[in-house]
Amino acid sequence: MPEHPTSHVPPVEPTGTPVRRRRWPFLAGPAVALAGVGLLAGTLVSPAGATGGGTDPGHPGHPGGPATATVEPFGTAPDGTPVERWTLTNGGVTMRVLTYGGIIQTLEVPDRWGQAENVVLGFPDVAGYAADTDPYFGSIIGRYGNRIAAGAFELDGASYQLPLNDGPNTLHGGPEGFDDRVWAAKPVGGEGEAALQLDLVSPAGDQGFPGTLTTTVTYRLDAEGALTVHYRATTDAPTVVNLTQHSYFNLAGEGSGTIYDHELQIAASGYTPVDETLIPTGEVAPVEGTPFDFRTPVAIGERIRQADQQLLYGQGYDHNWALDREDDGDREGSDAEDGLEKAAVLHDPDSGRTMTVSTTEPGLQFYSGNFLDGTLVGTGGGAYRQGDGLALETQHFPDSPNQPEFPSTELRPGEVYDSTTVFEFDD
Ligand code: GLA
Repeated sequence: MPEHPTSHVPPVEPTGTPVRRRRWPFLAGPAVALAGVGLLAGTLVSPAGATGGGTDPGHPGHPGGPATATVEPFGTAPDGTPVERWTLTNGGVTMRVLTYGGIIQTLEVPDRWGQAENVVLGFPDVAGYAADTDPYFGSIIGRYGNRIAAGAFELDGASYQLPLNDGPNTLHGGPEGFDDRVWAAKPVGGEGEAALQLDLVSPAGDQGFPGTLTTTVTYRLDAEGALTVHYRATTDAPTVVNLTQHSYFNLAGEGSGTIYDHELQIAASGYTPVDETLIPTGEVAPVEGTPFDFRTPVAIGERIRQADQQLLYGQGYDHNWALDREDDGDREGSDAEDGLEKAAVLHDPDSGRTMTVSTTEPGLQFYSGNFLDGTLVGTGGGAYRQGDGLALETQHFPDSPNQPEFPSTELRPGEVYDSTTVFEFDD
């Protein structure tokens, strides 16, 4: 359990209850913020170190300031392409986004005392993200989130073979997935928002996938500090698509220890059990009576060491939950018809931070950071060990191209892949 810095002793009300922080009203119009972007481009004074500096989110009773989006150079990709780092601030939340991989490098969120801390794992520089050892920290995953068995599938009678990068399978779009591309970025914030649009065109045959995929991902911070991630993609030939965001959260703060005390609730009465290579068996099994039942909040560490074959396969939690939804979450040409429904709530009792995840997607991969082994050094300068962060990846189910019973991941010309996930923060 991390200690709070003594310099941030919580202000207490007479009852001893910590003062609840309020979301700051938006104070300046977006025209001001966006007009500023052009002027500020490349001239933003960079904070010393990736996690240093940042906008003071304010403290209870004091506003955090207007919505802003600013940019600075952030080195180069391995092929020499310049990388930008964007800083978005709104509603007391500050996030830093790299055009490399669309990576959320830092996400500063206030705790119940108004103390902002970075709650995602990451690297201080592009080299960390470009290395083969990067476990997809903070990145956009494409074209296909999670695994495709043997990297093979058939579509409209044609067979496709993808490069393998996870034992016998293809993981997260292959060895050169969307997490390793430099995206084009532009600020698009509307009234009271700080927002960044990222664009990428993936040519036909990229990592073995058919069709030219034209992809747009938008990060939007609203006046309440909620982060909306919107994905849109179109294709010029039949293909399969499954995009997600791979941030590793630690609501007690990056580098503060494990997430085993975090309480997690997942709105799912079923999950998809896997084989020893983490490919779904095709079954949607009831969570009832298993360590996979998170229908009411449970501390992550409570059952993670149980003698359960599925936990042994994953070395912890590394599974897809089939979300209980009002609608079916099926694509049927477009997800736009699907509603945003609550998928998960993550709560850190120590800091009081709570994150609520809502999505249009039918599945959620909960990965408890099992493969972090102390060899990666993060933004805060310390090593990441097993369980130091967790991912909640909203998605269609793993290996859907080979699982006819799962919601379809096919996308055809004329259809629009349209998917939304919202991360809301509370204290
Ligand atoms: C996903 C997978 C995990 C692991 C991580 C990245 O969550 O399901 O098995 O590969 O990505 O390390």
